[in-house]
Amino acid sequence: MLKNAFRATVEHHRYSDLGLPSVGVTIAVNEDELVLRIKDRGGGMPRALLDKIFDYHFSSNNLANEPSLLSYTDFENHFHDQLVTHNSTNRMSGYGFGVPTSRAYCEYLNGSLTIETMYGIGSDVYVRVGLLTSENRIVRL
Ligand SMILES: Nc1ncnc2c1ncn2[C@@H]1O[C@H](COP(=O)(O)OP(=O)(O)OP(=O)(O)O)[C@@H](O)[C@H]1O
Ligand SMILES: [Mg+2]
Repeated sequence: MLKNAFRATVEHHRYSDLGLPSVGVTIAVNEDELVLRIKDRGGGMPRALLDKIFDYHFSSNNLANEPSLLSYTDFENHFHDQLVTHNSTNRMSGYGFGVPTSRAYCEYLNGSLTIETMYGIGSDVYVRVGLLTSENRIVRL
């Protein structure tokens, strides 16, 4: 989720002279759960995209033919000429696994992953996990 936030920030502000807005992380912990809020100003995403990103293998990198669903753009395509070693085997993103895998981990740990987004502005990701106490017995053996 941090990698997504950083990437959205860098790509959304790539032509700005004002520098990059911070990605904010708030951490809260209590007897029940650990909650992380990851807040970015990376431009958010349209509703139609938000519905799809929980699917495995869905990435906006693969949407060249569906520009209506693009949120941030494909870094590799945009900067292709400037990359010294561009090679599809060492891509850092675009596999479409970050969101669904993170949500699966959260749910396995008795929590959840939700995303609130404002298209044009940015996104807030809420990562919740239950606390791993032997008393609660929430970890399957
Ligand atoms: N913080 C964000 N801001 C804007 N768009 C986002 C953000 N997080 C996710 N997305 C959108 O959700 C899509 C899916 O994200 P996901 O992390 O599952 O895959 P990915 O980042 O494309 O590839 P990877 O498998 O390397 O993580 C992204 O391609 C992007 O379009
Ligand atoms: Mg990702």
